[in-house]
Amino acid sequence: MTLKLYIKTFGCQMNEYDSSKMADVLKSSHDLQLTETAEEADVLLLNTCSVRENAQEKVFHQLGRWREWKKARPHLVIGVGGCVASQEGETIFRRAPYVDIVFGPQTLHRLPRLLDAVQRQRASVIQRKRAHIMDISFPEIEKFDNLPTPCVKGPTALVSVMEGCSRYCTFCVVPYTRGEEVSRPLEDVLREVAQLARQGVREVTLLGQNVNAYQGMMADGDYADLALLITYVAAIEGIVRVRYTTSHPAEFSDSLIDVYAHVPQLVSHVHLPVQSGSDRILKLMKRGYTAQEYVDKMRRLRALRPDITLSSDFIIGFPGETDSDFEATLQLIDTIGFDRSFSFIYSPRPGTPAAGLPDDVSLDVKKARLARVQERINKHATVIATAMIGTVQQVLVEQRNADGSMSGLAENNRAVHFTGNIALIGQLVDVRITEALPSSLRGEWINAPQAEGFDAAAQVLPTAMPHNRSNVL
Ligand code: SAM
Ligand code: F3S
Repeated sequence: MTLKLYIKTFGCQMNEYDSSKMADVLKSSHDLQLTETAEEADVLLLNTCSVRENAQEKVFHQLGRWREWKKARPHLVIGVGGCVASQEGETIFRRAPYVDIVFGPQTLHRLPRLLDAVQRQRASVIQRKRAHIMDISFPEIEKFDNLPTPCVKGPTALVSVMEGCSRYCTFCVVPYTRGEEVSRPLEDVLREVAQLARQGVREVTLLGQNVNAYQGMMADGDYADLALLITYVAAIEGIVRVRYTTSHPAEFSDSLIDVYAHVPQLVSHVHLPVQSGSDRILKLMKRGYTAQEYVDKMRRLRALRPDITLSSDFIIGFPGETDSDFEATLQLIDTIGFDRSFSFIYSPRPGTPAAGLPDDVSLDVKKARLARVQERINKHATVIATAMIGTVQQVLVEQRNADGSMSGLAENNRAVHFTGNIALIGQLVDVRITEALPSSLRGEWINAPQAEGFDAAAQVLPTAMPHNRSNVL
């Protein structure tokens, strides 16, 4: 009998990618069918995030609900994967003994074996103990060699190119939960992208926690950096757009900046987390750059791509952040003119160096600062969206919506809705923007390539957005 599998994902795009791989690997080894309805599932997996404390608490809250279901349906298998699993290990079984499997981000490809082990233990007459199966090791790149052929549903795909992070920013738990940086060989990544392109993928996002540290072994024993990887990926037939995330400012190299000059498939949008505008705080965070160095790199980038938009992550209320440190962050937001970005109140993570720093800033002050940062970023994002009205944007059409309109993303990640037809899905079409809504845009389709014989190589850079922002770089 076909059993049903449900996966709940918390956290970043890396986790979304991992969840899709968990589904692929289990569907190819077991008679399991993915369901969107948790209540009807036989196997429930939770892919967790431990970057901030509230993300971690959500895990035990969710498990509490599943525990009730398991009382009524004892055959349920519950698995916990991701960064909380990696960090907490055995503690998860102690806090939630009804959990059957604990697996880490680097061992998700072993899920079929872990599931078999649960079933074997349950079947055994001698072993009457509850099955507690755990594998949170870091077997380096083995994961990628053991994943089945990707199966895609739409024109966009995530492709993980490196795992882990070796930068050890003082606030961050990732190097401890995902391990040190390990890059996939160049050929492996290119083979996967070519396979995706044959299945209809037109846009790939190259993923890594610190993706611009990519160092992929090449056939000749030499290493390719992210710039070279992007150049090769963009040359694959059918690939019309390339994105990458998340990169680190200190490793935003000249070669990566130069790629923007000669690879038009690379979108005019970069997510480059700066975290703070204060050099003092950046140093305490061990980020390895100053605010001015960040600005200088972005200036060089904008000289090559005047239409580029930039987004960032910000940590507000890092231990000891003063009013003037915070003002420096607001100043940097104005200097860069960041587009929609993420901002979080600092969350002490056990085992990280920053967790031991004295912190005399009250939560109320941190909340008030967060609100000001978000207001400032929204102001710039609104200016950017408004400036798009009247411009022609290339939109990669992804879906037909309930109201019959078509939609897809512009290069700067904004959803664009327009009237069109279903044959456009998977194509880059030109859409003139007519209206900027709070979180999306409306426009009219002015021209589209033919549904067949779509020539990726003929794609050119999108029309530049007018620059009516006076206070940006
Ligand atoms: N590689 C990226 C970079 O260069 O910054 C970041 C990856 S990190 C997993 C994603 C984001 O989570 C960070 O950019 C940071 O803003 C946020 N973050 C990480 N640790 C945090 C903490 N302890 N408290 C609040 N936010 C945190
Ligand atoms: Fe975390 Fe810093 Fe790496 S934020 S993922 S340790 S670049």
